[in-house]
Parts: sequence; C-alpha cells; structure tokens
Amino acid sequence: MILTVKPRSVAGVLREASAGLEGKALVSLAAAVPSSFIASLAPKAKVMRGMTNVNVEVGHGFTTLSAGPGADAEARAMAEEVFGRLGVVERVDEEYLDALTALSGSAPAFIAEIVDALALGGIAAGLPRELAYRAVLHAMLGTARSLLEKGWSPHQLRDMVLTPAGTTIRGVMVLQGNGLKRTLMESVLEATRRAREIREELSPGKL
Ligand SMILES: NC(=O)c1ccc[n+]([C@@H]2O[C@H](COP(=O)([O-])OP(=O)(O)OC[C@H]3O[C@@H](n4cnc5c(N)ncnc54)[C@H](OP(=O)(O)O)[C@@H]3O)[C@@H](O)[C@H]2O)c1
Repeated sequence: MILTVKPRSVAGVLREASAGLEGKALVSLAAAVPSSFIASLAPKAKVMRGMTNVNVEVGHGFTTLSAGPGADAEARAMAEEVFGRLGVVERVDEEYLDALTALSGSAPAFIAEIVDALALGGIAAGLPRELAYRAVLHAMLGTARSLLEKGWSPHQLRDMVLTPAGTTIRGVMVLQGNGLKRTLMESVLEATRRAREIREELSPGKL
C-alpha cells in the first residue's frame, strides 16, 4: 500500500484504513510525517517512509526509502522493486527525509525555475522561444548525464568549459556576482525548514 495523501490527511485516512493494513507493507510518501506516527495509527502494518518526485511520470524519479516499525526484508524488497520501476531508488536513514523532501521532492520545481530563467535569457538574446527551451533542457539533461556517468565534480565540468577571456567565464562572473549559489542553497534550507514546520503543525496535540 502506498500512502500519498497530504500530511494533514494522513491521520484521518489511517484511522479509516488501519484494519485493512494488517500485515501489509505500507509506504508513506507524505512529507514530514514520521514513520513512528504512521505506525501508531497502523500498528500491524510494515511501515516505511519515502520521498520521491514528479519525475516518476517518465521513469526517472529519485526515490529514497527508509524502513520504519515492522518493515521486514520482504516489505523493503517489495517497496524497492515497485519504486525501482519508476526510476532510481536508494535506502536512507529517516533523519535525511526532510532534506530530501527539498532536494528530491521540491527540486524539480527549483530546476524548472532555472530552466525558465535560462530560456528567457536565450529569448532576450534573440532565440525563438521553443529553440531556447530545447537548448536549455538538452544542456541540463546532458550535463546531468556527464556528471553521473563520468563521475566529474561540478567544478571539474565547469573548468573544462571555461576558456580564458571567453564567453562562459563572463556568464559565470554574473552568476557568482548575483549570489546564485547562495540563493539556491537557501532555497533548499528553507524548503527543509518548512518540512520541519509541517511536522510541528501535525504534532499529536493538534491531530
Ligand atoms: N507532488 C509531489 O511531487 C510529491 C513528491 C513526493 C511526495 N509528495 C507527497 O505526496 C502527498 C500528496 O501530494 P500531492 O501533491 O500528490 O497531493 P494531491 O495532488 O493533492 O493528491 C492527494 C491525493 O490524495 C487523495 N485523498 C485526499 N484525501 C483522501 C482520503 N481521505 N482518502 C483517500 N484519498 C484521499 C486525493 O484524492 P482526490 O483528488 O480524489 O481528493 C488525491 O488523489 C503529500 O503528502 C506530499 O508530501 C508529493
């Protein structure tokens, strides 16, 4: 069973469904809701928590799973098999799931904003809109593959593209001068903080 309701709906849904969850593997994808809370409402289920992202739609999701109360090897293998059909799966400690909510769940939205901004730059430089978006998307896809497949660090790849007094360094200079890295780092931290806030809002006294 996969639980994919909003965090505030988790308690109500589990209260209704817990009888049918006895002995079943239950993977909750709800942001910020601890596996211990899920287990308190579905005590006989084999509870796991995970975080995934919208890229499962095209078989390129990144799903992280952590085993919670009652999750045996069979339940873990089943969850890995299911999400493995939708992209890459990794086992993680539950303590990482708030940060992964930001860096996996939210990241496609952050990246879409970056795509939009780069494509608008291309349009400002005179490219037709569709060509600008294709150029950015393929640059992004190819860069991700290069980093994953070659094992280069982002700095290595960047330095391979930089020509002294060339075009790329001039663009990088503007990015750094305007705080791109700090902005992106803060966006991940802010989304992580929000996951923690949601958990506070769902504290047992308020359910
Ligand atoms: N969106 C993402 O990229 C993403 C990524 C990772 C994790 N998540 C997590 O996934 C969860 C859902 O997010 P979402 O963006 O998919 O939300 P959503 O689009 O609002 O979907 C929520 C779903 O839950 C159903 N639902 C609501 N109340 C229910 C109930 N009482 N019984 C049975 N089904 C019920 C809704 O059905 P109806 O439409 O029929 O009401 C809907 O299909 C959240 O906890 C979020 O943290 C989302």
